[in-house]
Amino acid sequence: MGLVLGIETSCDETAASVVDDQLSIRSSVVESSLEVHKDFGGVVPELAGRAHVATIGSVVRRALVEAGLDPLAPTLDGIAVTSGPGLIGSLLVGLAAAKGYALAWGIPFIGVNHLEGHLFAPLLEQPAMEWPIITLLVSGGHSMIVLQSSAGEHEVLGETIDDAVGEAYDKVARWLGLGYPGGPVIDKMSKDGVVGSLPLPKSMAGAGLDFSFSGLKTAVVRGTEKRPDLSMSDVAASFQGAVCEQLLRKLRQAVDGNDVRGIALAGGVAANSALRAGVTAMAQEFAIEVHLPSMAMCTDNAAMIAAAGHYRLQHNGPSPLTLSAVPNWQLADVR
Ligand code: KG4
Ligand code: ZN
Repeated sequence: MGLVLGIETSCDETAASVVDDQLSIRSSVVESSLEVHKDFGGVVPELAGRAHVATIGSVVRRALVEAGLDPLAPTLDGIAVTSGPGLIGSLLVGLAAAKGYALAWGIPFIGVNHLEGHLFAPLLEQPAMEWPIITLLVSGGHSMIVLQSSAGEHEVLGETIDDAVGEAYDKVARWLGLGYPGGPVIDKMSKDGVVGSLPLPKSMAGAGLDFSFSGLKTAVVRGTEKRPDLSMSDVAASFQGAVCEQLLRKLRQAVDGNDVRGIALAGGVAANSALRAGVTAMAQEFAIEVHLPSMAMCTDNAAMIAAAGHYRLQHNGPSPLTLSAVPNWQLADVR
């Protein structure tokens, strides 16, 4: 049974995981440096990089031990590491570690695209997936609609032209004084609010599949200045309602225009309750499958990197040890 060790350090999570060639997770360890960034309202790259340096060794060791492997000489078929996109200092910590282990243990090393990793996350929990599928990949750094004809075969149909969805959540939460990260708290508060109590514009009403969230964020700021009487829950519900309306409208258009067998969610914002409910209802309406990863598989983890690593090792072979970090590596450039 071929085993791949995955390593993920592109943002604030230091993660390592062992996944076998049937995409069964043997171990998955995630350490987050979120606490050190909380007071700054977002991830501070220098602090994230330092946290990775401090924890990478113990995180990898734990992942190997929990998978039943010898941490000094594990039997592995390869090491997959996120080489982009992400924060340069953070990416370099994972890359340096992965190259060191690959050299020491004499095994192949492969650089993986973080976004392709997110696309593999639903597969780890539902390996018997019927293709093609449309995936809505929404996180703190990215928002896109992807058509996947099979695992590893993807085409970006639309993406954000400004902020990512999670970024918009985090900025609105910061404006409302709700702390960081903003997604979970706005999602929770929305449950007690009324959608539409703060009128917000319909974004990107045009025919394309691209998104825009920065106008919505500005409209929330302007709107709450004019309506200080509105409760925080009503503002949260109105913002979340407008975000989901746009995401679901574009997703519907993509599903309608392509003959697909399923819809999947991926990325940190895939944890959003309204989005999960909306996507589930849409799949029912189209009579196709819905693939909603668990919370652990929505947010950054290394199992998804190991899964993508299995595929890339098989299809592209190992990466050269000269491979460096690519902070802006686009999903559309992954072949
Ligand atoms: O995928 P992720 O862990 O990191 C990136 O690669 O960006 O996503 C983190 C983002 C944050 O912006 C956070 O506010 C958002 O996901 N998020 C949510 C929810 N939970 C996390 N956004 C909306 N609703 C949620 N329940
Ligand atoms: Zn991510």
